[in-house]
Amino acid sequence: MASATLAIQNYALLEDEECDARIVAAKEKLGDRCIILGHHYQRDEVFKHADYSGDSLKLSRDAAQSNAEYIVFCGVHFMAEVADILSRPEQIAILPDMAAGCSMADMANLGKVQKCWEELAQVLDPETEVTPVTYINSAADLKAFCGKHDGIVCTSSNAQRILEWSFAKREKVLFFPDQHLGRNTGFRMGIPLEEMVTWDFNKPMGGLTEQQILDAKIILWKGFCSVHQVFQPEQIDDFLERYPETKVISHPEANFEVCQKADYVGSTENILKTVKEAEPGTRWLVATELNLVNRLHEQCKDQGKNVHFMSPTVSMCSTMFRTDPQHLAWILENLVEGNVVNQISVEPEQAKLAKLALENMLSV
Ligand code: 13P
Ligand code: SF4
Repeated sequence: MASATLAIQNYALLEDEECDARIVAAKEKLGDRCIILGHHYQRDEVFKHADYSGDSLKLSRDAAQSNAEYIVFCGVHFMAEVADILSRPEQIAILPDMAAGCSMADMANLGKVQKCWEELAQVLDPETEVTPVTYINSAADLKAFCGKHDGIVCTSSNAQRILEWSFAKREKVLFFPDQHLGRNTGFRMGIPLEEMVTWDFNKPMGGLTEQQILDAKIILWKGFCSVHQVFQPEQIDDFLERYPETKVISHPEANFEVCQKADYVGSTENILKTVKEAEPGTRWLVATELNLVNRLHEQCKDQGKNVHFMSPTVSMCSTMFRTDPQHLAWILENLVEGNVVNQISVEPEQAKLAKLALENMLSV
């Protein structure tokens, strides 16, 4: 039977070490009933408690395959929504801190995407000519929009295959919310920059002419990640001048110029794999979030590898950082007491449509 909910205020001032011990003890009591998923951008104090870690694609697969009663997602809001949508109805998805959103996901909302779709309909027939593709970094109602309009979800690790799938259905793609992932992927597939136009969601007709829309292969939503926008091509040039042997690797959320100069472009999981499998003694300049880069450096330094963060200024994902040991201890001890706090629950009708778009992705 559930007892009174334990209050977060009682955890806020606990030392990390105490939270640590309490997390371990609560996990032990919960056993198989609970799994913790941890995204690579989580801070070390939280990441070490994850049963599974990965990029968005891997974690959504882990969530879909899990039998646990509770799926605690140490990541951001859209990730816990995906876990809720892909898990069975009796499973419960939990986000330790409800304020852990994604500023890029917030750059697109259903009202504006619907308005864009209607405006496109003044120039062409979107239902037969445009596949809507949403990056997984988006709210559930946008995934539902894609499900409703025969579209699909993509992640940073499968974007090319998803675009191929989309073009096999319809000749154009509306890609939201991250312009950079769309542009970097489209260009790698051989689509010239002139055929990828940017839809400014604050302007009528996205700030585009009728002809620009008709000529476009991909219409890119003008969203971006504030964490990845700090990376600039001059930082690569400066670094290579000092250490010419360096290999450069970037997340596809970084801008076009950075990704063009990089030797490798890939998801967080892909970045980790590439650097870990590289020759001992190699040097790496990495354009993605700081917690990942610092941990990777620690893991690789024994092999004489040097892993550097690309930007001279610190750039962490402040919303990923919101999940701390205090919130994790609070969630788990409540579960031990039979209380569910911070459940993420997507409205059933929306979840049904969003699942279509996610299942399209998982089947590709
Ligand atoms: P990955 O899917 O590559 O882990 O990326 C998620 C994300 O939010 C990157 O900013
Ligand atoms: Fe969102 Fe950027 Fe944070 Fe990833 S790093 S969760 S895209 S704000």
